[in-house]
Amino acid sequence: MLILPILLATTVVASKLGGYELQNLERNRYGLTATLSLAGPACNAFGTDASQLTIEVTYESTSRLHVNIFDTPREQFTIPEEVISRPPRPTTSFVDSSDLIFNYEPSPFAFWITRRTEPDSVPLFDTRIRSLPSTPIPDLTPNGTLINLDGFPLVFEDQFLQLTSALPFDTNIYGLGEAVSSSGFRRDIGTGATGGTIQTMWARNIADPVDGNMYGSHPFYMEHRFNDSTRISQSHGVFLMNSAGSDILLLTPPSSNVSLIQYRMIGGVMDFYFFSGPDPKSVIEQYGATIGLPAWVPAWGFGFHLCRWGYPDINETKAQVDNMRAANIPLEGKPSFRVIGLFLKIWRKVQWQDIDIYHALRDFTSDPVSFPAEEMRSFIRELALNNQKYIPIVDAALPKQTNKTDIYNPYLKGADLDVFVKNPDGSEYIGQVWPGYTVFPDWFRNTTQDWWTEALLNWSLSGIEFSGIWLDMNEIASFCTGSCGTGANLSNTTVDHIFPGNPGNPVIDYPECYDSAVWGPSGNISINGTLTFGCDSAPLSSSSAVPRRSFAESNTDIDVNTPPYAIHNGFGPLSNMTLATNATHAGGLFDLEVHNMYGMMEEKATHLALQKIHPGKRPFIIARSTFPSTGKWAGHWLGDNFSRWQYLRFTIPGVLQFQMFQIPLVGADACGVDGNTDEELCNRWMQLAAFTPFFRNHNERGAISQEPYRWDSVAEASRTAIATRYSLLPYWYTLFANASIHGTPPVRALFFEFPDESELFSVDTQFLIGRDILVTPVLFPNVSTVDAILPGRGEVVWRDFYTHEIVSPTTGSSITLPAPLGHINVHIRDGSVLLLHAEPAYTIEETRQGPFSLLSSLATNGQAFGSAFIDDGVSDPPGDNTTITFSINNNTLHINPVGSFRVSQMLQDINVLGVANAPEHVLLQGQTPLNWVYLGNLRRLSITNITLDLNEPQVIQWI
Ligand SMILES: *[C@@H]1O[C@H](CO)[C@@H](O)[C@H](O)[C@H]1NC(C)=O
Ligand SMILES: *[C@@H]1O[C@H](CO)[C@@H](O)[C@H](O)[C@H]1NC(C)=O
Ligand SMILES: *[C@@H]1O[C@H](CO)[C@@H](O)[C@H](O)[C@H]1NC(C)=O
Ligand SMILES: *[C@@H]1O[C@H](CO)[C@@H](O)[C@H](O)[C@H]1NC(C)=O
Repeated sequence: MLILPILLATTVVASKLGGYELQNLERNRYGLTATLSLAGPACNAFGTDASQLTIEVTYESTSRLHVNIFDTPREQFTIPEEVISRPPRPTTSFVDSSDLIFNYEPSPFAFWITRRTEPDSVPLFDTRIRSLPSTPIPDLTPNGTLINLDGFPLVFEDQFLQLTSALPFDTNIYGLGEAVSSSGFRRDIGTGATGGTIQTMWARNIADPVDGNMYGSHPFYMEHRFNDSTRISQSHGVFLMNSAGSDILLLTPPSSNVSLIQYRMIGGVMDFYFFSGPDPKSVIEQYGATIGLPAWVPAWGFGFHLCRWGYPDINETKAQVDNMRAANIPLEGKPSFRVIGLFLKIWRKVQWQDIDIYHALRDFTSDPVSFPAEEMRSFIRELALNNQKYIPIVDAALPKQTNKTDIYNPYLKGADLDVFVKNPDGSEYIGQVWPGYTVFPDWFRNTTQDWWTEALLNWSLSGIEFSGIWLDMNEIASFCTGSCGTGANLSNTTVDHIFPGNPGNPVIDYPECYDSAVWGPSGNISINGTLTFGCDSAPLSSSSAVPRRSFAESNTDIDVNTPPYAIHNGFGPLSNMTLATNATHAGGLFDLEVHNMYGMMEEKATHLALQKIHPGKRPFIIARSTFPSTGKWAGHWLGDNFSRWQYLRFTIPGVLQFQMFQIPLVGADACGVDGNTDEELCNRWMQLAAFTPFFRNHNERGAISQEPYRWDSVAEASRTAIATRYSLLPYWYTLFANASIHGTPPVRALFFEFPDESELFSVDTQFLIGRDILVTPVLFPNVSTVDAILPGRGEVVWRDFYTHEIVSPTTGSSITLPAPLGHINVHIRDGSVLLLHAEPAYTIEETRQGPFSLLSSLATNGQAFGSAFIDDGVSDPPGDNTTITFSINNNTLHINPVGSFRVSQMLQDINVLGVANAPEHVLLQGQTPLNWVYLGNLRRLSITNITLDLNEPQVIQWI
């Protein structure tokens, strides 16, 4: 929990804040417009009050209401449509049919949003806040100054915007990210002993801090509101389209029966979208329809990926591919090399790095000694022959060439085309990253895209024939405080940073409970032949609290370098460890305004580049810094985590958050990146990660090796989990098609599917894949059981995915399940039909070529339904497809394909669970008898040895 320090207010804004008064209201077919004029004296709290605002209210659909409040002269930064395209404006009126209604009072101006069906219920969003006790709120403000206690009017200044909405006491809020939140998926709104949440939006290069701002910025939340009397819940969503640095606070003032959400932005406009839901999945879909739906994922992207910083050369890298094959652990993706800058950032056993390698720490190169380009070409082609892939890293910063003879073309060409970020005086902006002094592509410049595409293409032509790209360090990271400035010795490529594993920076951390002093450095849990687990329960190491600072300035001029309101950036001043806020983009745009979008814009440029380099094929990109609409271009990994049980647990809230953010292709680095892992943690983590969308084991330089074959128990656990994952591929693929077509989240919190079961609202130790698969991983060391909730309150039948046995809750919805090391609990919901691959193979491609099988678990009424979306798995834009529906009713299975994609694999067997009695006959199309077996204890009908064409409708009956 984030405990906020209580500081007494030293100064309270004395004058009564007037806020704004609404005038000149004009209604139109789609909503209304009006002006808001400053009422009373200016507040000038952290900037200059705008004297006149415009409000535009647009009913964009039945479920989306757009409320945009901006300065009438439009001087504030607004995210350009070229950067994030907006949905088309409505062409029919939804004013009388929208689920949401905009209400307002003119003076002081305040608005609130209600549901049409429930005009008298507590509003969904309500900026009228009158009834709060006047007790100071525990300090959430810089410098002890309490802002806006006097009724919380709207504040709209050039460098400070504030809007506050009331929330029902102790409601359920999800989203606002990117966050590794100590309260988990459900955010802390301060109704307990804790102080609430400050979610700061300022992209930051930092290894997954607990409760601090980090790589991505997502000003979107969903509220799930439970009505105590009806026992029914409804969800809605709120999105602020703003890229400015900001704090979003969730808090409950002392002795108040109302909670609050408060937005504090240091720029931009108040561009809000409200989504009516009314269920969690609909809210997320409605958000996706607004910012853009996720990119189609190539089928191979769902394979297992292996990566490490520390494969020192091509031979070591090849050895990993061979070792994985020898251990029969499926490997899809490369080893991908962390190419710092594009030199292959290799790892393992490298105890030091010489100056030659430092010269190679550059994007779009490969080291001529360790990774000779021609050998790399053959290696990657060999991988391709085995249906395996290769993915290198690209860092966002490029070295500045300072040596006339050491030619670095990507820089020279970029300088020539003027693609780099500048200082306010027009000179090149210099920062510092791994290769030394660097420049940064300016994605706002119209020459940058072609230059970037060409650089990636040339790299591929040089021998690094990548299948996808990993985008790192794009927050953007830079090691100078602001610009490295004039006077820096630009030819000095030494960076003040010792790589892990080098002298002076050994990797000595182990997971909680692993006693390396006693057991040695191996990470093994079998010591001298005896199985040795860790301690009984991992201590939840407490969060490093968010560093606070307060240096509010009294001047009211626009201050680009130190904006007067200090958001709670974990690095303090905004220019620390990143571009200076006055770094200048095309058109004179300060980085201050667009900082949070840098990563997303690089992802877009890279996606467009890959579409040119691999025409007709889906780009596969995994990126670190994200922003709304990143999902259109890339997936995300949960950043640099730690080899600790605590971070294993953070995987689930992290994956769930990014489902909400429309970046469903997401996963954590299995076994942990930073620090040494151990056998037990790696075993559990490989199994959990196999059930998340993006599945990669990744390790840092200098830590003990953690490829899944390093320990027998981990190898076995991985083989089992990967086989299950690959058998489920048609199901995953269908879920991702639904994500790309409708924005439906593939991975779901339990309450997404069971929204009225209030005991599920804070559950983030289990999750659902789609509607039908419940995953209950082990998240603590030294246990052989796991406590689970079986959603449905006894109305839903859950069966073990592997044994097909029914599991029944023991008390309420809870059950304790066996979970020996190497076993992850997976259950299948009733009423389901899943298309599976019958023979999971070494790669996704080989798996896809094999036959299908069908698994159904009947509901108690004997019905079940499922569907599968099938296409070639690679075309961009997607080509022909076929959706097969499977429905069971009255002992009859109907298979109906619709679409033009030819499904070449046959259906080989069918298992139907919950068939009450042994049938006498099983007939295809009413006549052909089929082979079958009935197992009474499982009530399982197995139809075997069939060769069913899924391109034709089929009917199978058991009588
Ligand atoms: C890789 O191994 C081959 C064969 O032993 C050797 O010739 C080559 O120099 C090695 N390459 C590197 C980069 O160590
Ligand atoms: C410039 O680069 C060349 C080629 O890499 C190298 O031999 C030379 O020492 C460098 N000069 C300086 C001043 O660093
Ligand atoms: C880029 O913008 C400049 C200035 O607006 C314009 O003159 C030029 O034609 C544009 N180039 C491209 C490739 O769009
Ligand atoms: C080069 O830079 C490093 C790190 O910034 C610094 O420690 C070193 O003194 C510099 N060397 C020279 C010759 O300027």
